[in-house]
Amino acid sequence: MSLEIWVAASVGLVAFTTYLTHNRTGLPRVGKAGPIGIILTAFKSITSFEDLLEEGLNKYGGKAFVVPTMAGSLVIVGVDNVEEVKNSDDSIINQPLSVVESLQLTHTMNSRQQALPYQAVVTRTDITRAIGSFIPEVLDETRLSMSETFAPKAGEKSATIPLFHTMTHLIARISNRAMLGTTLCRNKTFLHDVIRFAETVVLYGQLLSWFPKILRSPIYFLVSSKYGGPREPTKAIVPHLKALIAEKEQGLESSKTIADFLLNHAPPEEIANPELLAMRILNLNFGSIHTSSIFGSHALFHLATLSEAELDGIRHEIIEALESEGGYNKLSLSKMRKLDSTLREVGRFYALGLVGLNRVLVKPAVLEDGTIVPSGYKITIPLKAIHFDPSVYPEPEKFDCFRFSKLREMEESDVKHGFTTVEKNFVPFGLGRHACPGRFFASMELKVMLAHMLLNYDVSLPDGAKEAPKAMRFNTGVMPDVKAYLVITPRVGQMGQDL
Ligand code: HEM
Repeated sequence: MSLEIWVAASVGLVAFTTYLTHNRTGLPRVGKAGPIGIILTAFKSITSFEDLLEEGLNKYGGKAFVVPTMAGSLVIVGVDNVEEVKNSDDSIINQPLSVVESLQLTHTMNSRQQALPYQAVVTRTDITRAIGSFIPEVLDETRLSMSETFAPKAGEKSATIPLFHTMTHLIARISNRAMLGTTLCRNKTFLHDVIRFAETVVLYGQLLSWFPKILRSPIYFLVSSKYGGPREPTKAIVPHLKALIAEKEQGLESSKTIADFLLNHAPPEEIANPELLAMRILNLNFGSIHTSSIFGSHALFHLATLSEAELDGIRHEIIEALESEGGYNKLSLSKMRKLDSTLREVGRFYALGLVGLNRVLVKPAVLEDGTIVPSGYKITIPLKAIHFDPSVYPEPEKFDCFRFSKLREMEESDVKHGFTTVEKNFVPFGLGRHACPGRFFASMELKVMLAHMLLNYDVSLPDGAKEAPKAMRFNTGVMPDVKAYLVITPRVGQMGQDL
């Protein structure tokens, strides 16, 4: 079949699916009228979801409405339902199913990730408890990878780097130091493959959800055999896991990597088949690479817009924390309030998307605000309504790196405005029983990276720009501009003061 016929057949199928899954909720919907209007609006949602969201928020005044998307009707519910979503136990308002749907987990990973989600348990328990012991390794890998990546070319004073792409590589390398140890985290082929895997999970998840269920498996096979997919990174992980399993069987002292933690929780059938175990490592790699590189890039783009005096203020706080607590450790990181504040502001201002607290109704529900939603529909909450509420966040349209550190100076409680503290007005990590268990690791890793970077390098935007590059939107997602650059200049004579 020629390429044109493939494209025509695909678009036809997509349009047909969109039509079949059109809004039967009884709720009003945005976009053009009629069946063709649904299909056109669904196409529009790929590039202009924000406009459709605005239309619904303006028209329906905070009450529920539907946005037709290529993956079917998405029910946007009001902020009054946040508490109910937070307290849900998955019996009616279900979280794992929404992950299965949005990432097409059964295809992009496997059905075991949802049926037996022990990678989430390991993240919540062992990984979080081990954060202090990961800090020296994360610092070591940060220092090495940054000195390689940020070295200016011969005869130049600065390196100008594509920030998002670079952050993705740094995060992949540094996270895998904690996940798999020094050898694999510095293996260029493995890093390349694991990054491709992580990047394509979201992309393929979206693409597959546009097609009827019966076609998803062959389509995934086709696209992932060309680009991304778990096959290549698994090849590198499996021998490493086999060696760990053999060490464990011989009763040898195990190392303390995340792979060891997973091994201790894995059911016998996954130990017997390390490819299954490798998928847990890939799942956590996806959780870490995709999210932390987005947050780290937004943070750096905004830090680069600050004045020298403001940046020196942050550096001063970092040095004081390191000196008073004897170097990088949990206590000194907790005292880096300005960095913490910048990261929390990234969570408020951008999060990972335009909507959050995504759930699927497994039974019909009458929500807190009286909205009736039939079973099978996806519900979500517009983050702007939460994170840009001027009664909670004065001047919400302004990105202020110091918004939360200023509040912390005035409050008795030190954790209330911290990056990892989730509450109904701050939900980039979700809320309730499924709130991201990896946020403590992410916070530690990002703070070590940003602190080391600010102490050892000057950061600025190309051509003296003083505004962070505009974020990109695709479907419901928000990303830093992947084509934007950052200028990094070694602080000659000042480097190494944090080591
Ligand atoms: C800035 C970084 C990160 C952000 C913004 C983020 C965000 C999220 C969000 C929004 C959820 C879903 C919560 C919900 O639906 O209520 C989630 C779940 C999860 N995240 Fe993260 N995440 C980050 C880093 C990480 C890291 C580094 C790891 C692993 C080391 C991780 C592991 C997980 C896991 C295992 C879940 C599933 C939890 C469950 O289903 O119970 N995340 N994350």
